[in-house]
Amino acid sequence: MKAFRKDRESFPIKESTIYLNHCGIAPLYSGALRAQQEFSELHMRRGIAVFAETGNPLSAFHEIAGRLLAAPAEDISFMKNTAEGLSLIAAGYDLKPGDEIISYVHEYPSNHYPWRLQERRGARLVLLEDSDPTGSLPTGCPRGWSLEELTSRINDRTRIVALSHVQFTSGFAADLPRLAQLCRDRGVDLIIDAAQSLGSIPIDAPGLGLAAVAASGWKWLMGPIGTGVLYTSPELRSRLSVTLAGADIVQQGDDYLNHTWQPFTDGRMFEYSTAALALAVALRACMEDLFLEPDVGAIQRENLRLQDRLLERLNPAFFQYLRFAPENRSGIMSFRVPAVAEFVSRSVKAGVFVSSRGGYLRIAPHFCNTDEEIDGAAEILNQVAGV
Ligand SMILES: Cc1ncc(COP(=O)(O)O)c(C=O)c1O
Repeated sequence: MKAFRKDRESFPIKESTIYLNHCGIAPLYSGALRAQQEFSELHMRRGIAVFAETGNPLSAFHEIAGRLLAAPAEDISFMKNTAEGLSLIAAGYDLKPGDEIISYVHEYPSNHYPWRLQERRGARLVLLEDSDPTGSLPTGCPRGWSLEELTSRINDRTRIVALSHVQFTSGFAADLPRLAQLCRDRGVDLIIDAAQSLGSIPIDAPGLGLAAVAASGWKWLMGPIGTGVLYTSPELRSRLSVTLAGADIVQQGDDYLNHTWQPFTDGRMFEYSTAALALAVALRACMEDLFLEPDVGAIQRENLRLQDRLLERLNPAFFQYLRFAPENRSGIMSFRVPAVAEFVSRSVKAGVFVSSRGGYLRIAPHFCNTDEEIDGAAEILNQVAGV
């Protein structure tokens, strides 16, 4: 297996801080910037002839992103963000009055409002309540949801289950194989927001029978801000209507005065018009260079190793860790700490970049962090905590 990239040239942020905020905005991988610059340089020098040199950047993106999701290239679409993917699905889904969508009460807005908007069509958004999957977590902040409640809420009006693979506050990860099995057994479409997992937890989208997966490019994938990826199953696509359309949605290419309505039926049906191609090239470079070898399974193990190393060194008298069962662990470690906002700003000033959401301190190392960074971070964080 190839070694994990941990060098400063790939991740120049190491020159200024110990960065443990890959669940917020991750630092851009330098190879992504290079790829983006090369494409834009060619665009600058050659104009439209750039494509003679690069080929179709979206086709290359589909192929590599497909490998990350164990899916064929045809099932992938390049997006601006997670919300764009989820909105295209929510708005294009054939929902009748009384149809139900099940989600969780503390989802990130990108996986909430697209479904809420469907109430205008008479659909009902049913929200799972917050619950403690371990029985021992502190109360007062979002924790997770339970498979038992989900099972009891699915009925013959349920069409969609829309949940994040990993909750952005507590870091609670869905047990995706069990969740997917439940939805398959009950004939419900499972739509996953993978913004907090793609690049840190492996996802076999077709193997699990997922209807769709939407993710952002600038978190665990270390790509440009304003990029995302959408996986859709062919079966789901066959039932979706088009809600955004432009020149790139139809199969006649640049025969622009031919207005025959013949939209693509593969993932291109969502890439309705001119895309941010330089950014697609950059995100593809991240996926290709950083996530295929070592693969995401190896990255997940490395990240958990780094987390355990940090946990061994943080003083538990101050850092109250949310310990989930192994199948519910993710790249995000959440802690209850006193005066969290102040703690975060003091840590950042002291040279360790952490973040706070939903009342928690979030610490999110990634494969690119070294053992020395983890040890240094623990020392600084303990000092900032005054323990
Ligand atoms: C669970 C989850 N979904 C989505 C996003 C980002 O959504 P978008 O790509 O629409 O900005 C985040 C960002 O924090 C998130 O945590």
